[in-house]
Amino acid sequence: MLAFIGGTGLNQLPGFEVKRIAGVQTPYQDTAVDIACGHLPGVAGTVHFLPRHGEGHTVPPHRINYRANMFALRELGVTSVLAVNAVGGIHRQMGPGVIAVPEQIIDYTSGRAHTFFDGDAVDIESADRFTASVTHIDFTRPYSHELRELLLASAGQLQLPVWPHGVYGATQGPRLETIAEVRRLQNDGCDMVGMTGMPEAALARELGLAYASVCLSVNWAAGLSDDVITMPAIRAVLAQGMDQIHRLLLTAASRFPEMS
Ligand code: HPA
Repeated sequence: MLAFIGGTGLNQLPGFEVKRIAGVQTPYQDTAVDIACGHLPGVAGTVHFLPRHGEGHTVPPHRINYRANMFALRELGVTSVLAVNAVGGIHRQMGPGVIAVPEQIIDYTSGRAHTFFDGDAVDIESADRFTASVTHIDFTRPYSHELRELLLASAGQLQLPVWPHGVYGATQGPRLETIAEVRRLQNDGCDMVGMTGMPEAALARELGLAYASVCLSVNWAAGLSDDVITMPAIRAVLAQGMDQIHRLLLTAASRFPEMS
């Protein structure tokens, strides 16, 4: 089963007919994680939707309970996750408005609850597939090959230009970067920078969920243009780009059975 995780600018999916809101209890927070379960036009089967920043976009990137979110998706039987992330562009191909399906990640976040395998038997045993041991997941290729292919084939079908490459640098936020920080990210090989790509991708892998990300560049990263990065400017790009993201997700969902 397929789920979308919406990021900044994607709090709802047009045409998504919500059948129920599942309030899923997890060992990772006191309150339930609310996940919308419903149908998309032309798509067989149930699709799940989780707005990462909460209804109304109130939870900043460093306060998102990534473990609760991913655990709740798995509890509902989700097997594949397509995540949407807004990013700042670093590579010259990644100007505002460009969509990318990144291949790699460098994690610069700190202090986030970033693993289910925390040496805490209570957490781990509450989930049937975990074992109460130190576990090192393979993360050589952080994104699912099959889901990336699905996204790229869907973009091809729509004749939507999508950059099929890129290294995603995940920063702690919520502030944006300095010029020197972006230079460092660039030197490290990052092509885009965002605040929500990790630990989400790694937690998905720990749970055995296939996971891929669709990134929308909403600004040039700090220092790469003369412009000051403002929220109104970001919102303007989001408003334009989200229509393409919606079409891409809808097509990917309609082709999703190809994966199984
Ligand atoms: N930096 C980090 N995260 C972001 C940016 C950025 O420039 N734009 C959107 N998310």
